[in-house]
Amino acid sequence: MSPVYLLVLLVPVISAQTFHWGRCPTPKVQANFSLSQYLGKWYEIEKLPASFARGQCIQANYSLRKDGTIRVLNSQVEDGVRKFLEGTAVVPHPQEPAKLGVSFSYFTPYGPYWVLETNYTNYTIVYSCTDILRIFHFNYAWILARLPSLPPEMVHYAKQLLTDNGIDISKMTPTYQNCGDI
Ligand SMILES: *[C@@H]1O[C@H](CO)[C@@H](O)[C@H](O)[C@H]1NC(C)=O
Ligand SMILES: *[C@@H]1O[C@H](CO)[C@@H](O)[C@H](O)[C@H]1NC(C)=O
Ligand SMILES: *[C@@H]1O[C@H](CO)[C@@H](O)[C@H](O)[C@H]1NC(C)=O
Ligand SMILES: *[C@@H]1O[C@H](CO)[C@@H](O)[C@H](O)[C@H]1NC(C)=O
Repeated sequence: MSPVYLLVLLVPVISAQTFHWGRCPTPKVQANFSLSQYLGKWYEIEKLPASFARGQCIQANYSLRKDGTIRVLNSQVEDGVRKFLEGTAVVPHPQEPAKLGVSFSYFTPYGPYWVLETNYTNYTIVYSCTDILRIFHFNYAWILARLPSLPPEMVHYAKQLLTDNGIDISKMTPTYQNCGDI
């Protein structure tokens, strides 16, 4: 199939996500990233793009497996019940520890999970971008926190950091996090 034909097929699908012409931006990532300090539970505060899925109160829990890979346990509340999805993260290049790859099935390749900035105890700013044919790209971003809410000035700070890196956050939306103990 010719690349142009493929492009025509893909554009309608991807434009529903956050599709942009040109190649992925190349933001700076967290220097001297410490995976051990990063492990544990994170709450999703905002994400790009908006998700129309029913899930609320989205959380992730990262832990180390014996084989050295990272267990990614994502969960969300649907119809009053917390549902879990397990995946795997790896650090493909040890010299770039803040650039992780995450996959949720044997059949899908590792998607990028770049930690742009975290202070480990309060917030993390995560970015994922994939180039298609070097002609366009689609991306995702997440602001996560150790608590179910983050002070508005911190959210503002995180969005500014994304914007400063050339990332369009206009489709970013807050995640509902008020599910009590579910
Ligand atoms: C990263 O580690 C190097 C070497 O230990 C150090 O020189 C540098 O200041 C550190 N950078 C940050 C942002 O902590
Ligand atoms: C995260 O997962 C680890 C490993 O399964 C578990 O020991 C820990 O209790 C979990 N933490 C939270 C806050 O759920
Ligand atoms: C993490 O960020 C919070 C909010 O900006 C700040 O209060 C705290 O001191 C920071 N912690 C570290 C270890 O940098
Ligand atoms: C950052 O995290 C620390 C440790 O959990 C907490 O004591 C502090 O209140 C947090 N700061 C903010 C601004 O959320």
